[in-house]
Amino acid sequence: MNKKKMNIVIVGHVDHGKSTIIGRLLADTNSLPEGKLDQIKEYCKNNSKPFEYAFLLDALKDEQSQGITIDSARCFFKSKKRDYIIIDAPGHIEFLKNMISGAARAEAALLVIDANEGIQENSRRHGYMLSMLGIRQIAVLVNKMDLVNYDEKVFNKIKEEYSEFLKQIKIKPKEFIPVSGMKGDNIANNSEKLEWFKGSNVLSVLDSFEKEKSLDEKPFRMPVQDVYKFTANGDSRRIIAGRIESGSVKVGDKVVFLPSNKRSEIKTIEEFNSSKKKEISAGNSTGFTLTEQIYTNRGEVMCKEGDKLPFVSSIIKANIFWMGKQSMQKNKEYKLKLGTAKIPIKLKEITNVLDASNLSDSKKDSIERHEVAECILECQNPVAFDLVNEITHTGRFVIVDDYDISGGGIITEFIEDKYSNLRSQVFLREEKWYHGMIGFKERVENYGQIPKLILLTGPKNIDKKSIAKLLEKRLFESGRKVYYLGIGNILRGLDSDIEKEKREEHVRRLGEVSHILLDAGLITIATASDLTVDELKLLQEIIDRNNVFIIGIGRLENGVYNLDLNPEEDINKSVTKIIDLLKFKGVLFSL
Ligand code: GTP
Ligand code: MG
Repeated sequence: MNKKKMNIVIVGHVDHGKSTIIGRLLADTNSLPEGKLDQIKEYCKNNSKPFEYAFLLDALKDEQSQGITIDSARCFFKSKKRDYIIIDAPGHIEFLKNMISGAARAEAALLVIDANEGIQENSRRHGYMLSMLGIRQIAVLVNKMDLVNYDEKVFNKIKEEYSEFLKQIKIKPKEFIPVSGMKGDNIANNSEKLEWFKGSNVLSVLDSFEKEKSLDEKPFRMPVQDVYKFTANGDSRRIIAGRIESGSVKVGDKVVFLPSNKRSEIKTIEEFNSSKKKEISAGNSTGFTLTEQIYTNRGEVMCKEGDKLPFVSSIIKANIFWMGKQSMQKNKEYKLKLGTAKIPIKLKEITNVLDASNLSDSKKDSIERHEVAECILECQNPVAFDLVNEITHTGRFVIVDDYDISGGGIITEFIEDKYSNLRSQVFLREEKWYHGMIGFKERVENYGQIPKLILLTGPKNIDKKSIAKLLEKRLFESGRKVYYLGIGNILRGLDSDIEKEKREEHVRRLGEVSHILLDAGLITIATASDLTVDELKLLQEIIDRNNVFIIGIGRLENGVYNLDLNPEEDINKSVTKIIDLLKFKGVLFSL
């Protein structure tokens, strides 16, 4: 029997009976410590207080919170089928925060509505919250049926009205159940008083919820945390380290790093102070060495070939929960932290800011503290991610405003950006690339350099070619394998079939030619006038962005260039600056 635990959250308007229902579930499934129920009944009697099942929770909270480090809003109970952890979510703000940060993760929810009071503000707000968090398995409990004489009409009216609301937010509940937490009707047993109702009781609906696939069985994801280089005693290992968020891999598996598209194969699994493993899975922090040496960076996601791969895009559709003191503004720069990636982003569009209680569509330009919004974010560079309902860990993120975590979010949809087609083409190119018998690492070691494209750009009238040619000469004279790729040579050769105006295609071809030269191990130098940020991005899709150095001459656009040069400067000096940059970036080794 599968005795895996399942996390359930219970939500609903204040006083609609959440705690009472949990108390009942605990009592009716014999999940309470021996004598607990009597003890509390006795206590109530002695203090002339009416007994409440909700008291059970308070009593348990006090006990459970001692010793064990669980937050006080969790209870445990068992059915024949499995164990449950039930999260009582009194404050939805806290709950949202915990869900997004990963502190709590509910797989299914019970939503409680008081039959007597009917649908209230939080009944709707909480429904919306569940939908925003991607919790799809929901049962609605119409509670306190005893107060309305177990009347079928009252139940049907609430069911109808609330179903209508849920439909708008695309939730289809598994079941509506009339219950009385206080009297124990339809909680763990079907009630005679509700004989007109033919559905399941609360316990059996819980048992009918499906367990999420375990993380091990999902596609492999490891956000790269660090790359360690060992140089001592002829040890030339490079270890790619990180925490495996989902899936599993073994020695010999082919892996791909996204978004850079670099590919290799697992050679060893390196564990500190432990014997060598052949296989490793979700939840472990570990390191890998690879057969083919590649250069990957923190922030990339290591994935397994053959698995469903993450999406890559620079546009993200997400639901954001904002906690910042200052509201989240459109077009202001924030940082997105997703896995180990940290990327500048801007809020581009707010589709809906939630006043979840009435689903009113307020068209707003900012998200206030404690508001929830459906929105579109634009990232400066593409990121690899999953949808939150597929792989939670790589489908949620936090937003940093000035060093403070100010918001959390979940990714709900993949949206193509304008490079998506090109990206798929490049993906295929890399997947099918034919390699000779000489690997990348051999070339790097033999040539004493890491191949890079050095792209000099700036206004048309500024002389970039002289710098490019001098750079080539000086690198060559110091023994480097270097090539100056004159842009005119491509225009009159490879590009002779396309019109001059088709800039994008020219840039694409420049990228592909450079890509081949880089594969050959060469430092490649090219110039291009008035290259726009978009054209640069296009190039960075064709050649991994880490392989392009952009040198801006006479034009400054913050954050885009690796180096800005003054066109008035002596060109010898300019070239020295570029060479210093290459040394600093570890591109040139001493031969
Ligand atoms: P908060 O935690 O404050 O949001 O409330 P809650 O949803 O946990 O409600 P709780 O279980 O504390 O119940 C609120 C009140 O409703 C208590 O006085 C309960 O006795 C009463 N109540 C709960 N369920 C029922 C029911 O089925 N029938 C009747 N008659 N009263 C109920
Ligand atoms: Mg309560």
